Amino acid sequence: MNESFSQWVKGRQDRVEKAAETLLPSVQIEPKILHEAMRYSVIGGGKRVRPLIVYAVSELLDADIKNVDRVALAIECIHSYSLIHDDMPCMDNDRLRHGKLTTHAKFGEAMAMLAGDALQPEAFSYISETTLNPHQKLVLISLLAEASSSRGMCGGQAIDLCMVGKKMTLSELVHMHSLKTGMLLHSSVMAGLWCGKKESVNEDLTDALSEYGHSIGLLFQIIDDILDVTSDAKTLGKTAGKDALEDKPTYVSILGLEKSRELAREQYDKALGALEKAEAIVGENKTQRLREIADFIFSRDH
Ligand code: IPE
Ligand code: IPE
Ligand code: MG
Ligand code: MG
Ligand code: MG
Repeated sequence: MNESFSQWVKGRQDRVEKAAETLLPSVQIEPKILHEAMRYSVIGGGKRVRPLIVYAVSELLDADIKNVDRVALAIECIHSYSLIHDDMPCMDNDRLRHGKLTTHAKFGEAMAMLAGDALQPEAFSYISETTLNPHQKLVLISLLAEASSSRGMCGGQAIDLCMVGKKMTLSELVHMHSLKTGMLLHSSVMAGLWCGKKESVNEDLTDALSEYGHSIGLLFQIIDDILDVTSDAKTLGKTAGKDALEDKPTYVSILGLEKSRELAREQYDKALGALEKAEAIVGENKTQRLREIADFIFSRDH
């Protein structure tokens, strides 16, 4: 692994970008405005953390990178759709995302809603068009379906909205975060595994990576809650301070900054512990990228 983490990240981000440019419907195809809104939302987007996870895990198993490109983009499309809807006035009412106008602010609410809607089947079609075997495709489709369902991301978003202005216990908060953010990150880990799944993939490795996925999923949203308080719009590319303004239940509103940081550290340590178990199976230093991704999620500033 001679490449530095930042070089590796750049290379994988470029692959997702290229896949998005190639695979998302062209703006020459009618209805042009809808395709423009979809491309606007995905291309030139965020950090691509979920795709990076898919690549890093699949590289442990020598998966075919062309298939991984499609699976990584599929997950990013689901993520982008969740952001388009999350930003709409009926949800978080945000006008800034990825340093530019949110999709509804640029294209209007109806077109933003449709762009989010259309990105979902788009995602599943990318998986179906890989050269993976039918069983792998089905597992990947079902992983993504579950992670974004009412028992996953949509469910978590519903809880988030129902709990505005209300008190939550820590375990209720953990549950909400695991659904709204954790499951898609966890499914990114599992998807990477299934991209390269062969008979030889052992159950202990699956369990260790699953544990890693749960921890970084929770860690990701704790840090998101902290950054909403400690960072600014220029760094984040989205409006800061919105959670307090909207009286959202977050780690910081319920536990305060210091305790939130402590719990973030706990999840980070758990993630690294899970990788140690994985290394005992795949070999020393093989999970370096996943460790670097955990470091990035823990210490990110945007
Ligand atoms: C933001 O996710 C929304 C959450 C799930 C917390 P990201 O921080 O991964 O968004 P981008 O795409 O990188 O901006
Ligand atoms: C959104 O959480 C999680 C999603 C499923 C999109 P947030 O509402 O905290 O995400 P940001 O802060 O707007 O990115
Ligand atoms: Mg939200
Ligand atoms: Mg939001
Ligand atoms: Mg947030």
